[in-house]
This record gives sequence, structure tokens and C-alpha cells, in this order.
Amino acid sequence: MASDKISIHGAWASRWVFILAATGSAVGLGNIWKFPYMTGMYGGGAFVMMYLVCIFLVGLPIMLAETLIGRRGRQSPVNTLKTLAIESGASAKWSWAAMMGMVAALLILSFYSVVAGWSLDYIIGMGRGQFEGVTAQEAGGAFGALTADPWRLTLWHTLFMVLTGFVIARGVVAGLERGLRIMMPMLFVLLLVLLGYSMTTGHFMQGFHFLFNFQPDRLLHGLLAAMGHAFFTLSVGVGSIMVYGAYMPKHASIGSTVLAVGILDTLVALVAGLALFPIVFAGGMEPGAGPGLMFVTLPVAFGNIAFGQIMGTLFFVLVLVAAWTSSISMLEPAVAYLVERTGRSRVLVTSVLALLCWLVGMGTVLSFNIGAEAKFFVFGEDGFRLFQWGAAGGMNFFDSIDYLTSRILLPLGGLAFLLFAGWVLKRDTVREELAMKNPLLFSLVYWLVRLVAPLGVLIVFVTELMK
Ligand code: PFF
Repeated sequence: MASDKISIHGAWASRWVFILAATGSAVGLGNIWKFPYMTGMYGGGAFVMMYLVCIFLVGLPIMLAETLIGRRGRQSPVNTLKTLAIESGASAKWSWAAMMGMVAALLILSFYSVVAGWSLDYIIGMGRGQFEGVTAQEAGGAFGALTADPWRLTLWHTLFMVLTGFVIARGVVAGLERGLRIMMPMLFVLLLVLLGYSMTTGHFMQGFHFLFNFQPDRLLHGLLAAMGHAFFTLSVGVGSIMVYGAYMPKHASIGSTVLAVGILDTLVALVAGLALFPIVFAGGMEPGAGPGLMFVTLPVAFGNIAFGQIMGTLFFVLVLVAAWTSSISMLEPAVAYLVERTGRSRVLVTSVLALLCWLVGMGTVLSFNIGAEAKFFVFGEDGFRLFQWGAAGGMNFFDSIDYLTSRILLPLGGLAFLLFAGWVLKRDTVREELAMKNPLLFSLVYWLVRLVAPLGVLIVFVTELMK
């Protein structure tokens, strides 16, 4: 039986460590930075509602599928899919799905590292007391000055990539556990402190209403964006969870573990949203401001509360750690694969891949300043162009990579993993891996993976195309 094997890359000490690692992967910039700004851009409640539906109906089934596939195969996602497909009498070409996921994860890392670098800059700024008593306008100016400076961005981006590579090169299992045990709970506590501050702004209900008001007529508006974000925030569709599943102990229950990770991740995002929006409204800021939202809002909050300097510094340290544990999981599938394939050392493989991601990330660095006019995917009056300098429409480099990964590659990868678990693996294999005591519950989960979740992904794609 495949799951008796142990991965050559390591094994988590217990189910708890897997929960920590998977939560470390899931909770990151997606929850604290991206979720609030996307909610703002897509107008609030309707987006949040679709996001929640996608998490539970599609995202968690994919996480379950990835974990069980990973644990069954015990190799890098590419080789796991290849081996299991052949074992099940299917085509080895299934491994291409994992290959695509691997590339998607590296592309995500390229811009993730740049944004994580912003928090490095904010740790220094907060620590120096640069934001004391700051107004929303001043905080906006400070963010603008940071993103306008390619050298400063490059410095932080480089540093963050080195940090990520460092842990990966030593091996995730050794590197992750200790840090996560302390940092994760601390991040949550500080988010609650922020939430407490939000409640004193006098705009808490406005923020609450913005996040949770039901707008049935707008449900379809940001549907693909919401699904893409649900995938992004859970780290599914790329093989990150699959590779962590490969290091999972054999007897741990996958169903409850995945549910725990999903609930924790959702809680962090919702608390971050609830903490941020009242501050946005109290400061007269624009909820749809885009990627700068968190970096403008938080300094205002920390700049105006007691012990704000210390708490703000600590907060950005924790954001950094959350981003760090996520980016580690983006690199791991490719590192595991190349180590298996080439037999070279983790250090060498990691260095090459990190350098590659760093290079692509420079595109994102420049897209905030001197390269802002470089537009991709331009639908102009004279038809479609892949690239055009200074076009009115189209997306800059950062937006293009974000769009390509979250809205196209992640859903496609997720769909492939669902179909693999639901239709390629034998029902008995899935039953054995999930080891659910209640047969009814197993059937429910199995059909969720086999039919409901894949249909969900397809419906969202088709709806988007017809809009
Ligand atoms: N889930 C991470 C976040 O919300 O910040 C982002 C992420 C991690 C995406 C790992 C993809 C991935 F493979």
C-alpha cells in the first residue's frame, strides 16, 4: 500500500504539525492583505458571500483531494500524480496538472515576495515611530513613496526571497514547526487587538455592514474573483497542500484536519476584514483603493493607539512570518520535484528556483513605478494585443500574473486534482485514505469531490465567460 511509505523529503511529527504547516501555508498575505482589498474592490457583502460559498463547496474539497493524493503518493506532486495514475491504469499525463500547479506556485511566489517585502519596510518604519499620529493622507503618501522607489522594493524583495530560500534549503519539516507554534497564535491575538481598536472608531457597524450585507443582484459580479481568491487563500490548486500531505502521518484523519485548516483560514480573513474596514471608513478612505489598502489603513490605526509603535511593529513582524510560511509552501513542490528528478541537493535546487522567482518578481517591482505603463492582455479598438506600452486598458505586470494564477491556473489545477481523486483513484483507495467511520458522511464527501465541486468550478468559468 502506497501510504506505508515515507517521503524522502521528511515527515511531520504528528497530525498537529500538519495542521500547523497547512495553516501556515493557508494563512498569509491572502488573508490580511488581499482579502480586504479585493472585498473593497468588489463592493463588499456579495463578494464575501461568494467567497465563503467557494471555500466550503469547492476549496475544502480540493484541499481534501490534494491531501489524500499527496499522502497516498508520498512524492512531489508531479511524481505522485504520475505514479498513482499508472497504478490506477490511467495516463501518466495527469502529472501535467501538477506541473502546471508547480509553475503557478512559482509565479505566485514572484509577486508575493515583493508584497511581503513591503511588510519588511513597514517593520522598520513602525519600529522607528514613523507613523506616530499619522493621518490617512500621510499614510497614503508614505505607501506611495515606497512603491515609487524600485531600489527600496528590490532590496526588500531580495531579502524576503533569501529568507524563504533559507528555510526551504534546510528542509521544511525541520524549519517550520518551531516558528509556527508561537507565531500563529500571536498573529491571531494581535488581530483581535486590532479588532478591539476598530470597535472604538465609531464606524464598526459600517464596516460590519460592508462585509456582510446581502446584495443578491451583485452576486455574479465578482464570482470568478471570489473563487480564485478562495483557492489562493487556501493554497489549493497548485500542489502545495499535496506536497505537505505527502509528509503527513498515516493515521491522521484527513477530513477533520482539512476542516480545521479551512475554518482557521476563514476566521483570520474575516477578523482582518472586520478590523480593517471600520478604520477605512473612520479615516474617510476608499474601500476600493486596491493593493495599498492594508498598508495605508494599519499605520493609521497603530499610529493613533497606546503602545501603537510596539504593537504595530510586532504586527508587521507577524505578517512577515505569515507570508514567509506561505511562500515556503509555494516553493516546496518544485524543490521536491527537482530533487527527485535530478538527484541534486536541496540547496542547489532551491537557489536556482529562488533566483528564477526573484527575476520574475522584478517585473512586479517595476510595475509599481517605472514599468507601470507596460500593459499586457490589451483588448483595444484594433483587437487583442499581448503587450502594449502605455495602453489605456490591459493590466500591468503584477495584475497580469495575479490574474493568470488566481483566476485561471489555480481553478484549472484544482479541477484536475478533484477529477483525479474522484474519477482516477479507486473509490476504495479514497475510502481507505479518508478512513471515515460514518459511511453516509463518506458518500457525501466523496460526491462533493467527484461531482459537486468540479461542477462548481465549471459553472463559475462558464458564468464568467457569458458575462
Ligand atoms: N494561501 C496563501 C495566502 O493566503 O496568503 C497564499 C498561497 C500559498 C497561495 C501557497 C498558493 C500557495 F501555493
